[in-house]
Amino acid sequence: MCGIVGIVGCQPVAERLVDALKRLEYRGYDSAGVATLDHGVMDRRRAEGKLFNLEKKLSEEPLPGNIGIAHTRWATHGVPNETNAHPHFVDGVAVVHNGIIENFSELRDELLAEGAVFTSQTDTEVVAHLAAKYRKSALDSKAAMLATLNRITGAYALVVMFADDPNTIFAARFGPPLAIGYGRGEMFLGSDAIALSPFTNEISYLVDGDFAVVKTDGAQVFDYSGNPVSRARQISQASAYVVDKGNHRHFMEKEIYEQPEVISHALSHYVDFADHTVKPADAAIDFKNLRGLAISACGTAYLAGLVGKYWFERYARLPVEIDVASEFRYREMPLSPDQAALFISQSGETADTLASLRYCKDSGLKIGAIVNVKESTIAREADAVFPILAGPEIGVASTKAFTCQLAVMASLAIAAGKARGLITPADENELVRHLAEMPRIMSKVLNLIQPQMESLSRELSRFKDVLYLGRGTSYPLALEGALKLKEISYIHAEGYAAGELKHGPIALIDENMPVIVIAPHDRFFDKTVSNMQEVAARGGKIIFITDEKGAASSKLETMATIVLPNVAEIIAPMVFSLPIQLLAYHTAVFMGTDVDQPRNLAKSVTVE
Ligand code: F6R
Repeated sequence: MCGIVGIVGCQPVAERLVDALKRLEYRGYDSAGVATLDHGVMDRRRAEGKLFNLEKKLSEEPLPGNIGIAHTRWATHGVPNETNAHPHFVDGVAVVHNGIIENFSELRDELLAEGAVFTSQTDTEVVAHLAAKYRKSALDSKAAMLATLNRITGAYALVVMFADDPNTIFAARFGPPLAIGYGRGEMFLGSDAIALSPFTNEISYLVDGDFAVVKTDGAQVFDYSGNPVSRARQISQASAYVVDKGNHRHFMEKEIYEQPEVISHALSHYVDFADHTVKPADAAIDFKNLRGLAISACGTAYLAGLVGKYWFERYARLPVEIDVASEFRYREMPLSPDQAALFISQSGETADTLASLRYCKDSGLKIGAIVNVKESTIAREADAVFPILAGPEIGVASTKAFTCQLAVMASLAIAAGKARGLITPADENELVRHLAEMPRIMSKVLNLIQPQMESLSRELSRFKDVLYLGRGTSYPLALEGALKLKEISYIHAEGYAAGELKHGPIALIDENMPVIVIAPHDRFFDKTVSNMQEVAARGGKIIFITDEKGAASSKLETMATIVLPNVAEIIAPMVFSLPIQLLAYHTAVFMGTDVDQPRNLAKSVTVE
């Protein structure tokens, strides 16, 4: 949800700011801008659309200056055009912002009444006006910033520069993340450590209510009353990551094919491959004595949680309450300290998930975080962190993070069942053996189905609507399949529990709506096949994703049958994720959409 960067340097910054923005483009790509300060002259370049438009402008009209701020936008208030692009300038103040200023309309009315002239439709511009107004009222730039921060409400990460304070950048955080980077004779600010990794790996994170004054020789952090606070520096691992596509056309394709490797890496953190046992879960969550588990997350991470619910209930007999975080946070759900709460988030920064976490923390629950970014806010606020170790996920559509979240939850559910005395050593051994086989099976499946997925995608791209069906853990996969297809190919798709078909969606079935049925030969197979019969009887076209046993036992005519190897029930959700990911990917490629940066989306959603 918008990426921001700032550099107070000892050499020109414009190019480096754009370089850092490239690493933040996953946070939004509607428009971008950069502003620098050179001998008291503040200037900016802004461009609608992707970063290369900004780069082109900068190459035609370079910006000098050793201090600057930059922004890549995911629009909230105001359409994504150049006028609404950040940085916003008002009378010698430049502002970049990630988040939403909730009281902007009341502040705007007040400023308009005082004669201010607004040039954009953004909420951000009020911040620039307020800071300029307080600066003009004879406050110095730091005091003007503090006065501004005490007027605004909402969720924001802000980076601000004053033309008459040529060696300082100000920053504030209330909600979205913001990191300070410590260099040699230079200082940096960025939405995350990955953005700053080419410059430094020495990082400190601002927390909500922090205000930072950053100069070339260091940073001072204060609360909004101006009292100094201290934020520990840490060494970030982000610089170790190489963020490129390798031989793949898209990050999404690379990330799909990385899954066997990253899952193996993730599993080795949770299971002992030598003696086929699970490692005990972090003691901060007392699975043995828990009465229940609350799970909350958004989007794909929520769907991973939905698979987890089946596992925690089956293997650990733990009742699971699960909801999307945007509902969970406002449901006023009765919670008690003998429950624990699990939050699943690739980025670890999703605003609704973080708010749900805080709600549970306030209710006295122990908090577990299943995250990819170990330094994220959600990880930092949790009692126990369960890393998914997927490596950076750049494609906006989540793939490897989803299957790694599943692998981690499968291991945790077994560990919870063991702690509760419900899983015998023999069962544990068998389950872990299946998990250990998974990377090899996933590699095999990826090679096996690739050509079929490509040709099937051509056919799928002709349709406007697609239905996905599944039962048991294949039901969340049906939802995930539909989500993946719609977000990158823009084909309308819905996922349903197969048993729900006859309660409404069956009315939609005709030859224009293919039905993708996900059905490994498990306990539910026969029932799902009955639902397929209902589709076939109404002329529906079926794409059947099953295994060898399933393909052999179903005699139904299909538009296509994708046959995977027979796999154990515990690993089926991860293995069956592969065809639904590849189908969405190839359909999008065939339709020529922007696979890695689909329209209107952002990778990290730090607003409500
Ligand atoms: C879909 C997708 C999103 C995210 C959701 C939560 O492919 O990636 O639905 O899963 O925005 O994001 P995180 O996991 O970062 O909290």
